[in-house]
Amino acid sequence: QGGATVSITVVGASGDLAKKKIFPALFALFYEDCLPEHFTVFGYARSKMSDEELRNMISLTLTCRIDQRENCSDKMEQFLKRCFYQSGQYNLEEGFSELDRKLKEKEAGKLPNRLFYLSIPPNIFVDVVRSASRTASSSSGWTRFIVEKPFGRDSESSGELTRSLKQYLDEEQIFRIDHYLGKELVENLSVLRFSNLVFEPLWSRNYIRNVQLIFSEDFGTEGRGGYFDNYGIIRDIMQNHLLQILALFAMETPVSLAAEDIRNEKVKVLRSMRKLRLDDVVVGQYKGHSKGGKSYPAYVDDPTVPSGSITPTFAAAAVFIDNARWDGVPFLMKAGKALHTRRAEIRVQFRRVPGNLYRRNIGTDLDKATNELVLRVQPDEAIYLKINNKVPGLGMRLDSSELNLLYSERYRREIPDAYERLLLDAMEGERRLFIRSDELDAAWAIFTPVLRELEERRVAPELYPYGSRGPVGAHYLAANYNVRWGDIS
Ligand code: BG6
Repeated sequence: QGGATVSITVVGASGDLAKKKIFPALFALFYEDCLPEHFTVFGYARSKMSDEELRNMISLTLTCRIDQRENCSDKMEQFLKRCFYQSGQYNLEEGFSELDRKLKEKEAGKLPNRLFYLSIPPNIFVDVVRSASRTASSSSGWTRFIVEKPFGRDSESSGELTRSLKQYLDEEQIFRIDHYLGKELVENLSVLRFSNLVFEPLWSRNYIRNVQLIFSEDFGTEGRGGYFDNYGIIRDIMQNHLLQILALFAMETPVSLAAEDIRNEKVKVLRSMRKLRLDDVVVGQYKGHSKGGKSYPAYVDDPTVPSGSITPTFAAAAVFIDNARWDGVPFLMKAGKALHTRRAEIRVQFRRVPGNLYRRNIGTDLDKATNELVLRVQPDEAIYLKINNKVPGLGMRLDSSELNLLYSERYRREIPDAYERLLLDAMEGERRLFIRSDELDAAWAIFTPVLRELEERRVAPELYPYGSRGPVGAHYLAANYNVRWGDIS
């Protein structure tokens, strides 16, 4: 006996996120021997279910990294034996008291640490936190809560949510997840910048012409429209995933890699960003389309979407950072559903070489011939740098070539899912990749005015066909700043 134990309770255990991401990530951590020796997993939800039924439900989505590893099914069985279920309402203490009783049984004689993953809609966060934190107050280990966006709809509602949560929790207990921060390439962004001499000195308005943050999915809301319609793509992707990447990209060098040092720099750069204006934003919504004998539905055809909805499924925006490093550099963001491809990437377009001796050998389009650094976050993780290179031969012709680091070729190992990294960090109390409340406030401050204006004026989104490259307005927006989207040219 003795030692510490960690219990992980997934609240909202029968939901999509829990089944698709959280339980599989926990199993992957177990499989890689990353979970503590004494741990238990609890599922909590309203429906009645036995432990066995929960195990069956989870087992359907567990996978082994390398399927042929022979100990995989043994490992699965060992993991499932540590999984239990408790049913209960979200707004009543009863279920949580029962959960507490069961947790205490498992914790007997050990230092109890409890992690709650709130995989539930945000309107019930506070109810759950109230009940779960009360029952846990007698323990002497840590109690932490992971919460997942949406954290409100704007500055006010987000502030309200923070205040309510803080009635029951300290900031140190709240782990606000943005799963993009757990993606391998996003984590690597700081490594690239701060441990390679060839990048950081160029990382400013002196050498960078513009930066593009691009997110696209090749599928629509497909039944998730009920949730999505309340938020739209700006709140679903831009205000969090893309903005977080931007903050890491543009922040000053932190004092150290400690969580507070990094988050201090992120807050500073977020607070230096100009609030978006309506002119800086283009919105779109996908419409039905037939291609190759197949027809694709419009957003408003999703039965969970209210008819006549003008919620954007696509948005492009130009963000500016008013500080010495980035003055005047456009940061263009683009996010959309039901586009032609699934991709997330960061593109850095550098300035022209002044007085380029080879301008005549490059062809007419000098802008196309500038260096471009691309970090492909997904799929097929890669980092590549476009350079001008002499085409071999007796003549002198230059073309654009790539120095290419393709992860699948360089590293012959599976890349862990973002949720694995983040769950592990939460258990270890590592807050570097979680959003602090002042970061969240700063993020909302950038987007709240424009969101309000879009909604008050009922700005109609530009329709684009399902499977296309999105509304043409995105090109005009970029052209206003002399930018061409790198993923299209
Ligand atoms: C979620 C959004 O945060 O991220 C979804 O709510 C989106 O709309 C998803 O599909 C994308 O995540 P990933 O990791 O699949 O790119």
